[in-house]
Amino acid sequence: MTILVTGGAGFIGSNFVLDWLAHSEEAVVNLDKLTYAGNLESLASLQGDPRHIFVRGDIGDRSLVDRLLIEHHPRAVINFAAESHVDRSIHGPEDFIQTNIVGTFHLLEAVRGYYNALPATEKSSFRFLHVSTDEVYGSLTPEAPPFTEENPYEPNSPYSASKAASDHLVRAYHHTYGLPVLTTNCSNNYGPYHFPEKMIPLMIVNALAGKHLPVYGDGMQVRDWLYVKDHCSAIRRVLEDGRLGETYNVGGWNEKPNIEVVKTICKLLDQYRPRSDGKSYADQITYVSDRPGHDQRYAIDARKIERELNWKPSETFESGITKTVRWYLENTEWVRHVQSGTYRDWIKKQYS
Ligand code: NAD
Ligand code: TYD
Repeated sequence: MTILVTGGAGFIGSNFVLDWLAHSEEAVVNLDKLTYAGNLESLASLQGDPRHIFVRGDIGDRSLVDRLLIEHHPRAVINFAAESHVDRSIHGPEDFIQTNIVGTFHLLEAVRGYYNALPATEKSSFRFLHVSTDEVYGSLTPEAPPFTEENPYEPNSPYSASKAASDHLVRAYHHTYGLPVLTTNCSNNYGPYHFPEKMIPLMIVNALAGKHLPVYGDGMQVRDWLYVKDHCSAIRRVLEDGRLGETYNVGGWNEKPNIEVVKTICKLLDQYRPRSDGKSYADQITYVSDRPGHDQRYAIDARKIERELNWKPSETFESGITKTVRWYLENTEWVRHVQSGTYRDWIKKQYS
């Protein structure tokens, strides 16, 4: 048996592929366009492993996806492929519309054709799992209860709007065509192989390079942090036993203001890699202009997935962030290689 994973060279996708193959003998076909965010080095430990079949390509390439489905006959498709960075979506939304909306549409069309041609026995076990975000629900006030699956969609950035549109398409393919879909909406992930344009890895690599730690606005925006390996285990559970057509919120029960996260990272670095001048990395914190339309707070109510599928995160924020900081200290080559020319161009554009 085989599964098809899209975007499996990105942050969460690569963690998922590694996690999947650590738990199962079932092969993974990994379709990834290798944009700036895709990195085969994250999958280097799978070199020569016949269970991992990497294909460079676009989820919007209908003939390629059709061919992969026929050739590999997967029993499930898990869609991670997306443009995922809010700040980039503010500078240039078009790629987000293309991949997250148009690409998901083409992928759904290919999967619908494949599904319709499956024999009845295989139809009943086939699944299309769409990985989405809590950002589709918009922003919470400090007193509001966390997002449940019943919250209305109120996306605020081009990124979250494009993910919301893709969620709606996935839902419609279930209601209209009977495609057996599942959707997960998760909170901010962190952990190994996280591209250092996102806050946590950016702060770690900037701190070690002696650079400023750029906190947007007053640093009081709140995110609900989920260790990436917990997210992977949640996806496996939803794929296994999720109810068709349902959405599941996945969160870490770890709401933290950004400034607290940055200070925690500084404290861990002070402990594991003290600065040569004896000062704290916290001295490098710099408040910079806020993100336009910056969502104040995200928080996930993850009780449905716990109640129905008996899933709970296993890491606390303290254990997960310690593992993450240590991973970045031990994987400096991976970091050095992702900081290529295009990465430097982005940093200049965003922070100059
Ligand atoms: P990422 O940006 O690190 O990786 C995305 C991957 O998709 C890359 O490998 C890229 O090459 C690939 N890709 C992009 N466009 C493609 C296309 N048209 N065809 C094929 N491949 C393409 O993103 P991530 O952080 O790993 O996020 C994975 C998924 O999880 C996304 O759908 C994202 O919206 C969702 N999500 C992420 C987070 C988070 O905190 N990172 C939180 C909630 C939801
Ligand atoms: P990010 O990692 O980009 O995830 P998202 O925007 O999807 O939540 O940002 C997390 C939080 O950190 C968000 O509130 C914006 C803030 N942030 C900074 O303060 N400085 C930075 O340099 C970055 C990249 C983000």
